[in-house]
Amino acid sequence: MSNVDECYIEILRLVKQAGSIIREKISQRKDVLTKSCDVDLVTKWDQEVEKLLIDGISSRYPEHRFIGEESTASGQKVELTDAPTWVIDPIDGTMNFVHGLPHTCVSVALLINKVAEIGVVYNPILEQLFTARKGQGAFLNGAPIHVSDEKELRKALVMVEMGTSRDPEKLKIVLQNITLLTAQVHGIRTLGSAALNMCMVALGGADVSFEFGIHAWDIAAGDLIVREAGGVSIDPAGGPFDVMSRRTLCASSMELAQQLSKILIQYYPERD
Ligand code: IPD
Repeated sequence: MSNVDECYIEILRLVKQAGSIIREKISQRKDVLTKSCDVDLVTKWDQEVEKLLIDGISSRYPEHRFIGEESTASGQKVELTDAPTWVIDPIDGTMNFVHGLPHTCVSVALLINKVAEIGVVYNPILEQLFTARKGQGAFLNGAPIHVSDEKELRKALVMVEMGTSRDPEKLKIVLQNITLLTAQVHGIRTLGSAALNMCMVALGGADVSFEFGIHAWDIAAGDLIVREAGGVSIDPAGGPFDVMSRRTLCASSMELAQQLSKILIQYYPERD
C-alpha cells in the first residue's frame, strides 16, 4: 500500500468524524463570529473541525503541512511548498451551516509537489461523499461520476456565488457577470458552497462553475474531483488553473470553459 493510499484511508476516517460534528451541530443554536466582513462567518465548530483534522493527520504524519481556513484566519502564514500539504476547509458553506441550510461540507485536498493527489468533499447532512484520487476517477458515495460533456454556453447550467466579500468593486463585477450571463445560459444556480458547486459540475448536474475571490481551501479538492470526473479546471481568463490565485472556473468541457472565460468581466483579488 502506498503512502498516499494510507493517507486516503486516514482522511476518510477523519472526514467522517468531522461530518458527525457538523450533522449534530447544524440544527443547534450557534455563537457566530465575523472575520473579514459582516457576511464572512465563523463558528466554534469550524475551528473544532479544523483542529480535529489537523491533529489527526499530524499525529500520523508529523512532517505534513497544512493550509487551513481557520488557522489562516488566526494568523498562520499561507505557504504552498513541494512538501505534502493538506488544504482544508473544515466547513465550506459556513453561512448555510449557521442558518441550517443543508448545503454545507468538509473539503480536504492533499497536494504533493503542488499536485493534487486526493480530493474529498463531504456533505454529511445530505450524505454526499465526493472523492477523487489522481488518475483514478471521481466518485459519489463510491459510485463513479462523470461531467455532463455540455459544450455550449447557451445550454449550460451555471453555478455562481456572491462570495463573502462586500467590497463594492468586487460586488459590482459579480452582479455584472450574473446579469450578462442570465440572458445567455440555461440557468444560474448558487448553493452557497464553492466546493459543492464544483462537485455539481463533477456530477453532471451543472455544467460550469466559476468564482473570483475564493481561497485555496474552497477549491483544492473540487478541482481534482472535477478533473477526475472528466471535466476541466482553468483560470477564469482562460489560462492554467492556479490554486493560490483566488480564481476558479471549472466546466464539463474545455470548449465551454473557454467560451465563458471570453465573456466574463475579470476580477483579480490579492493572491493567497
Ligand atoms: C465560502 C463559500 C461560498 C463562497 C465563498 C467562500 P466558507 O466558504 O464557499 O460559497 O462564495 O467565496 O469563502 O467561508 O463558507 O468556508
